[in-house]
Amino acid sequence: MRDTKIADLLQTEHLLQEYTVKGWVRAFRSNRFIALNDGSTLHNLQCVVDFDNTPEEVLKRINIGAAIAVKGELKESEGKGQRVEIDVKEIEILGEANPDEVKKTILQPKRHSLEKLREQAHLRVRTNTFGAIMRVRSKLSYAVHQYFNQKGFYYVNTPIITGSDAEGAGEMFKVTNFNLEDLPKTEDGKIDFKQDFFGKETNLTVSGQLEAEAYAMGLGQVYTFGPTFRAENSNTSRHLAEFWMIEPEMAFCDLDGNMDLAEEFIKYILNYVLENCDNDLEFLENRLIQEDKSKPEKDRAPMQLREKLRFITENNFKRVSYTEAIEILRNSKPNKKKKFDYVIEDWGADLQSEHERYLVEKHFKCPVILFDYPADIKAFYMRLNEDGKTVRAMDVLFPGIGEMVGGSQREERLDVLQAKMKELDVDEKELWWYLDTRKFGTCVHSGFGLGFERLVLFATGMSNIRDVIPFPRTPKNAEF
Ligand code: 4AD
Ligand code: MG
Repeated sequence: MRDTKIADLLQTEHLLQEYTVKGWVRAFRSNRFIALNDGSTLHNLQCVVDFDNTPEEVLKRINIGAAIAVKGELKESEGKGQRVEIDVKEIEILGEANPDEVKKTILQPKRHSLEKLREQAHLRVRTNTFGAIMRVRSKLSYAVHQYFNQKGFYYVNTPIITGSDAEGAGEMFKVTNFNLEDLPKTEDGKIDFKQDFFGKETNLTVSGQLEAEAYAMGLGQVYTFGPTFRAENSNTSRHLAEFWMIEPEMAFCDLDGNMDLAEEFIKYILNYVLENCDNDLEFLENRLIQEDKSKPEKDRAPMQLREKLRFITENNFKRVSYTEAIEILRNSKPNKKKKFDYVIEDWGADLQSEHERYLVEKHFKCPVILFDYPADIKAFYMRLNEDGKTVRAMDVLFPGIGEMVGGSQREERLDVLQAKMKELDVDEKELWWYLDTRKFGTCVHSGFGLGFERLVLFATGMSNIRDVIPFPRTPKNAEF
C-alpha cells in the first residue's frame, strides 16, 4: 500500500479504509493519542493507539520527535478539534528520539523565541511556525515560475561565479581555488589571478542582470531566479549575505512597461498564496494577533495579515517621481515633535529607509513606485533621461519592508553607456561582452530585481529576514 500524506487524509471523503502514514511525533497523550505531522500540512493527524494490544516496548519508543509509520483505518473522530483520526492497527518506529536529548532542543513542545529557533535552524522546520513559513515560501516560488511562464518569459540560469560586479558597489565575495596563504603573487607583490583557477579575478554574483540582458537580446523576455551574494556588512532585519533574487529582463520595453510588470507580478504571486496557502496564512496571522495583544493599542497592526495581502492585490500602487517625493518629504513632519533623523536638504540625496517608510506607511499608505532617480546615486547601466541628470530607475517600496524591488530601463546607447562607465571607472575590458549587446541590434529594454526573501517576509508577516530562509547567511553567521 502506498503511503498517504496527512494533507490528503484530512481532506479525503474515503473513510473506513486502511492507510499508512509516516511522520514525526509532535505529541503523545495518555499513552493513547499521537499527534503526527509529516510536513504536508500545518495540521497534525490524530492517531489513536490501541494501548492494550501495543507492546510496552513500542509504546516506550513513541517519543516526541521520533519518526514513525502507522497503519490503520481512517474514521470520523469523536474528539474535538479534528474531523478524522486514524485507528492504529500497526505501528513501526522508524527513527527514535531520546527524550532527554529532545528536552535540550526546540523540538520540546513549548513556546520558543525566534532567536532560540535560529540557534537550531536545522530543527526549526519541525515547528508549526517554520513549517508554515517554508510552505508559503515554496508556493511563492512556484507562483513566480507560473507567472512568467504564462507571460511567455523564458527561465535563464545566469552564472553564480562571475568576473563582473553588476552593481558596481564592490560588495563581492571573492572566489579562488587557492588556500589564502598559498595565493600566488606577482613580482610586485600583488595577487596573481592569472594563476588562479579561471585565470582571472572572480566573485560570487551580486546580480544576474547583465547576463539576463544579453539573453533578453535573443529570447525577448527572460527571467532569472537564483541565489545572489552581497558582502555588505549590514546587520539588519532586511539584509542577507546570500539571498534569492528574481530578475525579469525584457527587450523592447520601457520604464512604464517595467513598472506595470512589477506591479502585476507582485499582485499575482500574493494572490496565489492567498488562494493556495490559507491554512498556513491563517496560522501566521493568529500568531501576529497574539503578538499584537502584548503591544500598546497604537502600535498594533491596522490590518490582519490576509486582509493586508488582499489590500495589496486589489489596489493600485502609487507612482511618484524622485523629485516629487523629495518635495513631499521636505514638507512633512514624520510626527508632531520630531523631524527625520536625516533631513533631506538638497535634491540629489539618497533616500534613507526612514523616508521610504514614511512615504509608504504614513503618506500614501500603499506600495509606492519611485522613479526617475538622480543619476549620481544609481548604477552605471541605467538609461539617462533627456534632462541629463536623472535616470529611468524605479524602486518599489512596501509597507513594513522598504525596498522590495530595484530596477530600471537600461542605457541602450553605446556611446552614452561607455561615457558613463568611464566616469564611474567601470572597466570596459571586463565588460566587453556586455558592450557587444549595444553594438549588435541594441534596443530599448528594461528589467528589475525582486528580493525574494523580502517578499516572503511580507507574505508571512514575519519581521526578521533570517526567519524566512532555511539557513540564513549574515555577518558572523554560517553555522549550518
Ligand atoms: O536594488 P538591487 O541592488 O538591484 C539589482 O541588483 C539590480 N541588478 C536588479 C535588476 O535590475 N535586475 O537589488 C534588487 C533587490 C532589492 O530591491 C532588494 O529587494 C533585494 O534585491 N536585496 C536584498 N535582499 C536581501 N538582502 C540583501 N542584502 C539585499 N540586497 C538587495
Ligand atoms: Mg536597490
